[in-house]
Amino acid sequence: MTLLALETSCDETSAAVVRDGQILANVVSSQIELHAEYGGVVPELAAREHLKNLPPVAQAALHAAAISPAQLDAVAATQGPGLPTALLVGFKAAQAMAFALNKPFLGINHHEAHLYSPWISGAPLAADFSKFQPNISLIVSGGHTLLVLVAAELKHRVLGGTIDDAAGECFDKTGKLMGLAYPAGPVIDRLAAEGNPRAYNFPRPLQHDANDDFSFSGLKTSVRYFIRDNPALLDDRQKVCDLCASVQAAIIEVLVAKTIRAAKRHGVRCVTASGGVTCNRALRNELERTCHHHGFSLRLADKALCTDNAAMIGILAERKLRAGLAPAEPDAEIQPGWRLE
Ligand code: KG4
Ligand code: ZN
Repeated sequence: MTLLALETSCDETSAAVVRDGQILANVVSSQIELHAEYGGVVPELAAREHLKNLPPVAQAALHAAAISPAQLDAVAATQGPGLPTALLVGFKAAQAMAFALNKPFLGINHHEAHLYSPWISGAPLAADFSKFQPNISLIVSGGHTLLVLVAAELKHRVLGGTIDDAAGECFDKTGKLMGLAYPAGPVIDRLAAEGNPRAYNFPRPLQHDANDDFSFSGLKTSVRYFIRDNPALLDDRQKVCDLCASVQAAIIEVLVAKTIRAAKRHGVRCVTASGGVTCNRALRNELERTCHHHGFSLRLADKALCTDNAAMIGILAERKLRAGLAPAEPDAEIQPGWRLE
């Protein structure tokens, strides 16, 4: 079965061709530089960029996969959640293409696709669900922080999420307070590697609360006050590295502690993680270390698939078709606020 998948929910324009669980092509055009000037994603600009970039990106994916549109068995796109005008571009393009080819069309929940992205690995990248185990899945990105129980393939339940800022947002906003470029997550990752994570002590919000929710805005505020009271610190590179390491440690400690606790509580033996923040080396190392310590197997999304991509959309769409789930109605609409349940 061969599918074309499109992803345009935020600031990455992506198209992928997937065949029988294999990623034949996954082309991603990032708009990070465009939005960096504004310190965050500007929805209208994102939509215009998607409009401009989607045709060449889709062409490039088909070309790289050596697949012609006539060879496609289905077309899929992210239906939500995401920025409405951005979502519309990929969703309507995929719908029109499916209509023109007279093939099934699938609208995919972006977060559900993240849930299964850790099962895509290897070179060339391919999904391997033969090793699937019930798991606790952590999704951490610029817009979302979710802890999900994945009891079986295509069967999941959200346990908790952030009640304010997402983990990636916390990286980006605290980095901005330090004067770092947007998105600050990767910069903090680099600087933190040269810093002392115990140099400064920041709160670990909700770490010991009984629920599976997260909160990062208090941590951001405490970094704001810390910098206000110690402005000279920003002129000392080593202290900035220490600050980055300390903030990063606070974020990671909460994420890892609550993930492990949920895994124990639900009796699963496997932990998975995906989303842009999963690129963070300290988070990857800490998850490795802690999962090993507690006897959990760990599947981290491949670094190429942590940030938004159409490959994960295509893989989930193919699983759904194979499982006999009905394609979307030809006139289905985007669901910008589609929450994973
Ligand atoms: O998944 P993603 O590409 O887009 C969203 O759906 O939000 O994630 C982007 C987020 C940004 O907040 C960015 O700062 C963060 O992921 N990020 C990182 C790293 N790489 C990306 N955060 C920490 N360390 C990184 N290495
Ligand atoms: Zn995402």
